[in-house]
Amino acid sequence: MSKDGARQRLMAPHITAKKGLETIVSLTAYHAHTAAIADKYCDFLLVGDSLGMVMHGFETTVPVTLDLMIMHGRAVVRGARRALVVIDMPFGSYEESPSVAFRNCAFVMKETDCGAVKLEGGRRMAKTIAYLVERGIPVMAHIGLTPQSVNVIGGFKPQGQDKSEWALIEEDAAAVARAGAFAVVLEAIPEPLAARITQNIAIPTIGIGASKACDGQILVMEDMLGLSPKVPKFVKTFGSVGEAIELAIKEYSQEVRAGTFPETAHTYTTFEVAEVVDGPDERARPSRGDLSQGGATKKTKISST
Ligand code: KIV
Repeated sequence: MSKDGARQRLMAPHITAKKGLETIVSLTAYHAHTAAIADKYCDFLLVGDSLGMVMHGFETTVPVTLDLMIMHGRAVVRGARRALVVIDMPFGSYEESPSVAFRNCAFVMKETDCGAVKLEGGRRMAKTIAYLVERGIPVMAHIGLTPQSVNVIGGFKPQGQDKSEWALIEEDAAAVARAGAFAVVLEAIPEPLAARITQNIAIPTIGIGASKACDGQILVMEDMLGLSPKVPKFVKTFGSVGEAIELAIKEYSQEVRAGTFPETAHTYTTFEVAEVVDGPDERARPSRGDLSQGGATKKTKISST
C-alpha cells in the first residue's frame, strides 16, 4: 500500500483497460530475484505451470501440484512490486466443479497474495470462470494449445492449423470473455485466427505463438533467456544464459581444482561477527548481509588470524 492507501500493484482491471491503448508485456517468473528484474518491464508476471518443465524437469505440466504453484507464487509476489502476479491453476485443481475450483483458487490467492489466477479451457470452463469472477477471483483464460490436455491432444501441437477448427476456437474466446475473464492467453494458433479473435472480443488477447496480432505477448522466461535446452518454434531467444552459466561453472571448477580460488580477497583474515548481545559471550548470529567484511556498523572483533 502507498501512503495514501492506494495499492501500487496493477490489478486485473488495469490489464483489461489496456486493450486497444497499449501493448501488454508479460513473462513467466518462478523466483523472487528474476521476478524483481522482470517487474520493471512487465505489466503482469505469470507463475505458469510450465515451471514443472523448466524448473523441475517434468516432461509435461500434468504432474504439477498446488503446493508447487504456491511455493513459486509466494517467491514471485515477494520479488515483484508493481506487476500483477497471475498464478496458473495446475491440472486437476479446478476442472471437477466450480465449487472445487473456487476452493482451490481462493486457497492460492490467500496463500500467495497474488492478484489473479489462470486456467485452461474455453467453452468447457466458461461456467467455472463466471462462478469464480462473481465470487471475487479474477481469471485469465487460456485457449488454443492447452498443455494440460497434452495426453488427449497427443502432443504439444499447434491448434487451428485446419481452418475448419477456427469456429470452435473463436467460440472458446467469446465464451471466456462473456464469462468475465479479464484476459485470455492464445497459445500456438495461426495469425489470421488470432487477429479475428483479437478484433471480436472485448478483453485483451495475450499471445504465445499466436503472432503480433494479439493485444500482448508472453514467453516463458527460461525459454527466452536461452536457458531451456529445447524451445518451440515461436520462441525467440533474447539471451544465452545457459551458455553463461556453463562457462561460469566450468571456470569455477577449474579454479577450485587448480587452487586459484579462493584468493585472499575471498578469505576472512580478521573474523568479525555481529554485535554482542546481553554480555560478552552471547554473540548475535551474523546475517548473510553481515558476512561481507566491514559491512555492519556495530561489530565486535572476536578473534583475528
Ligand atoms: O505455464 C505457462 O508458462 C503458460 C504460458 C505458456 C502462457 O501457461
